[in-house]
Amino acid sequence: MNFLVINGPNLNLLGRREPDIYGKRDYAALCAHIKAAAGTENIEIDIMQSNHEGVIIDAIQGALGKYDGIVINPAAYTHTSIAIADAIAAVDIPTAEVHLSDVDNREDFRRISFVTPVCVIRVTGLGFDSYSEAITGLATYIRTKS
Ligand code: DQA
Repeated sequence: MNFLVINGPNLNLLGRREPDIYGKRDYAALCAHIKAAAGTENIEIDIMQSNHEGVIIDAIQGALGKYDGIVINPAAYTHTSIAIADAIAAVDIPTAEVHLSDVDNREDFRRISFVTPVCVIRVTGLGFDSYSEAITGLATYIRTKS
């Protein structure tokens, strides 16, 4: 089984970005955490990050025929991007939505997620563990379905 992990805008600044909300560990540490979680589940993983909506959409489209699952933290695009939600629906690859912070208990605008309806799993508020939970949950979902 193989997954593509997509991280959206500003996640490359982890560690220096609002550490009270997102923690003090940097993006390299997040990637190491994701790879360790995938290894535990015996899942091959590719990880990408982009600050650009179109690049994220191209990555989702490019996952077709290549990946069994997608784990995505669309970051601020979560709350704005119908185009990313449409891309997830279009490729029809089981997708997990992930957020480091507890988006439902922050500003009101963060409660809106355009991707939730097209994702099979949603994990929020667990910091780096949001990704490991999502990887485990998505693997279980795919194994149960096949
Ligand atoms: C985030 C939450 C979003 O609201 C925010 O715009 C982000 C990160 C999270 O992981 O908690 O950039 O997706």
